Amino acid sequence: MSKATERSATPLARQADDFAVSVLEGLSRPKKHLPCRFLYDAAGSALFEDITRQPEYYPTRVEVGILTANAMQMIEGALEEAVLVEFGSGSSIKTEILLGHMPRLHAYVPIDISESALTDARERLTARFSGLNIQLLLADFSHSIELPPELAELPKLGFFPGSTIGNFMPAEATRLLRAMRETLSPRGKLIIGVDLKKDVRQLVAAYDDANGVTAAFNLNLLVRINRELDGTFDLQAFRHAATYEPFEGRIEMHRRKIRFREAETIHTESAYKYTIEEFHLIAQAAGWTPLRVWKDELNLFSVHELVAP
Ligand code: AVI
Repeated sequence: MSKATERSATPLARQADDFAVSVLEGLSRPKKHLPCRFLYDAAGSALFEDITRQPEYYPTRVEVGILTANAMQMIEGALEEAVLVEFGSGSSIKTEILLGHMPRLHAYVPIDISESALTDARERLTARFSGLNIQLLLADFSHSIELPPELAELPKLGFFPGSTIGNFMPAEATRLLRAMRETLSPRGKLIIGVDLKKDVRQLVAAYDDANGVTAAFNLNLLVRINRELDGTFDLQAFRHAATYEPFEGRIEMHRRKIRFREAETIHTESAYKYTIEEFHLIAQAAGWTPLRVWKDELNLFSVHELVAP
């Protein structure tokens, strides 16, 4: 483990094998599928940052507005000697909104699988919040996470913005929320961003922007297979497709093959959209008690407060 990172909960050496096995398994299925976590290598993460700046991709913009307007309420009860734990922290940009109101925080624990994302975020946050105790945790948040033992008894505020929960099937989302509750226990609270169901055209446009950034993000997965696994995908033979599946309540991202068997696609990502009530059911199934919900005026996006009973 590099000196730059204090703790590593996931054996990263296993990630390369994981990628190869998942690709083999996913492409052998009758309906080809690749897990969306592999979209985020360095190039994919940079493309995702670019997606968040596209005019059609409303979630980031709208969620930042909700967090900015309601941060004081969201951090209630976590002002003194608390630990802020962020799952899949990436660049930790949205976290700054909460940190700005938490001068007496005991520690900020960003959890991410990208070591460079963690160390870059630490550099930026240290410059802005002098004295902030940042304890990096290099780990895959979709697995069960153990926090450093010295933090065990402190109150914890979990933060999981961006509607990343939507990239998990509902049963997986429930399992993940349950694992987060255990990580944050005792006295845990979670602030989580959840994208809402809305007009289908607006949803599809958010995943098929006019500048083609989402298309490039999606294509990058095949580029990665060609580079890292000696794949032989003809990149010109696939085009980006984003559809909304109303029965499942999710956007599906595919690469559609435009030669050979016309209808064949590789399913690369799902992004579930929830009503407030639907998300409450999932949170409750994971053992959380939903309290407040904050939304924007147009009902595009929601941020939920969940507490451990
Ligand atoms: C990270 N995640 C919440 C994004 C989403 O909206 O599902 C990923 C994304 N894929 C395409 N555009 C954005």
